[in-house]
Amino acid sequence: MGGRGTRACEDARRAAAGGRTLTAILGISAFYHDSAAALVVDGEIVAAGQEERWTRRKHDAGFPTNAIRYCLAEGGLAPGDLDHVAFYDKPLLKFDRLLETFLAFAPRGFASFLRAMPLWVREKLHLPRLIRKGLGGQYAKRIVFPEHHESHAASAFFPSPFEQAAILTFDGVGEWATASYGTGRGNRIELTHELRFPHSLGLLYSAFTSYTGFRVNSGEYKLMGLAPYGEPKYERLILEKLLDLKEDGSFRMDMSYFDYCQGLRMTSRKFHRLFGAPPRTPETEPRPLDWDLAASIQKVAEEVLLRAARHVRRETDMDRLCLAGGVALNCVANGRLLREGPFRDIWIQPAAGDAGGALGAALFVWHQLLEKHRTVQAGDSQHGSLLGPRCGEEEIKAFLDGEGAVCTRYEDEGALLDAVAGLVASEHVVGWVQGRMEFGPRALGSRSIIADARSTGMQSALNRKVKFRESFRPFAPSVLRERVHDVFETTPERESPYMLLVAAVRKERRTTESMDGLSGIEKLNVVRSDLPAITHVDYSARIQTVDERRHGRYYRLIRAFERRTGCPVVINTSFNVRGEPIVCSPEDAYRCFLATDMDALVLERFVLLKKDQRAAREAVPSDHRKRFPPD
Ligand SMILES: [Fe+2]
Repeated sequence: MGGRGTRACEDARRAAAGGRTLTAILGISAFYHDSAAALVVDGEIVAAGQEERWTRRKHDAGFPTNAIRYCLAEGGLAPGDLDHVAFYDKPLLKFDRLLETFLAFAPRGFASFLRAMPLWVREKLHLPRLIRKGLGGQYAKRIVFPEHHESHAASAFFPSPFEQAAILTFDGVGEWATASYGTGRGNRIELTHELRFPHSLGLLYSAFTSYTGFRVNSGEYKLMGLAPYGEPKYERLILEKLLDLKEDGSFRMDMSYFDYCQGLRMTSRKFHRLFGAPPRTPETEPRPLDWDLAASIQKVAEEVLLRAARHVRRETDMDRLCLAGGVALNCVANGRLLREGPFRDIWIQPAAGDAGGALGAALFVWHQLLEKHRTVQAGDSQHGSLLGPRCGEEEIKAFLDGEGAVCTRYEDEGALLDAVAGLVASEHVVGWVQGRMEFGPRALGSRSIIADARSTGMQSALNRKVKFRESFRPFAPSVLRERVHDVFETTPERESPYMLLVAAVRKERRTTESMDGLSGIEKLNVVRSDLPAITHVDYSARIQTVDERRHGRYYRLIRAFERRTGCPVVINTSFNVRGEPIVCSPEDAYRCFLATDMDALVLERFVLLKKDQRAAREAVPSDHRKRFPPD
């Protein structure tokens, strides 16, 4: 990695800090899934990004060279300027788990052991060397390795708006821990309890994800979306046979139903016999069994979380909770935790999966190891999770000129927003790129596709013609923060800037059309409210509240839409097609725009209409979708 003169950077940093030297910490997560980097300078989150956005490989697990390069550039640093580098888990402990699991299940575990070993030997056990190499040989100081769940916990607590809080983490697996809890106070976190591999809520949910025909580590979200179509018929069976759930939320799984310790599959034949069918073949229609299993495992996951939350509340005597780990992306469970759980307030790390571990590891070094003071900020200190690169006007212009794109540049923001709001209100699908890219799996109004939530045909049209994804998948709304209570059943002060909570559409907005006699996907076509495109079959919606401080121009766009239509809600879905990482650069956005039935593209102040791009459409290969294997 190329670097600038270390000395010059150091001088600049000193000058910027008024003679004081700033401390720069780089956090890295890699080699499992969702590799990422994050830069924290004097406790301030300066930049963070997932490697997939640059390499265009979804969930890219490689060394995050591009993300690191971006973070350093954003901070004006060369690798040699870094004071600390932190990696998000302990490779030797993880090796220990693989080895012990292999020994426990030998010889059946031998296949998975052999498969995992070359990678471990080649890369993971030589991490320090690999990281130094990735930093261009310019970083010679110490590399810190917090534990995996410490990184998750740090990412949940340190940026949160709470002076003190309970912390709960749930994921697939780190080194040994699969869940943990403890407390955060001021600038310290302490994890006191953990649940250990192979007993794992994340892996249990992933086992059902795999059995119902979706991909592990990316299809969990789809399984959650499928749940409202089914009935939780198997909830009791799961609790009777698959896991022994205790009152405190801890559990032991009956491993004879699972194959992830010894084989390369998630579920065993015994599991398939229990539910009376083989796993669904991917890309076939979900079966009634899949809808019902989705509903059932969702209920079980919620029950585990609720019990754990009640226990943690009692044990820690804290009335606020911070959550992280991949399971914390289950926004349906989060919504229930907020409504029915014992905590006054909850903050969830928006990059709750392993990408967020990079941020947690860096913050862990600053607060926990260097013992630096932590100042709680109103809202939080995650900056709306808008921590990625922005597309500069000149970069956009040069790119569009090079492509011969036909576009209009709006000097005046008011005119720009009026034009875009007009497009959305007349049922155009708009690709929207503005400001800094999101860190975490959700698009939050910087790299989003926007459409009219009032339109009855929009949900299926968007799935079919723009996203090329499964028809049952719901869309999420962005709603003006001050109007959230008018549309959804939340308290007026409720914020959900990271789209991590589900709430119901208010009763008076619902339609009473009967769903009697309809099963599964048939329910999809029933209009459920005056915002049909974002109202799921059970009236739920995965809401993002949008405010001017965090979201700037995106907020003002929805205001312009509200002025025009009276409606404070738009559809917000990530700017990509199925299997594609969210777009990063103007080029990514432009290609995705041309390859889909999107009607307009907004790149900062430039607006492109599809109908004007005839020549470009013909020149762009129609195989954009094929570049991205379905997820
Ligand atoms: Fe994790």
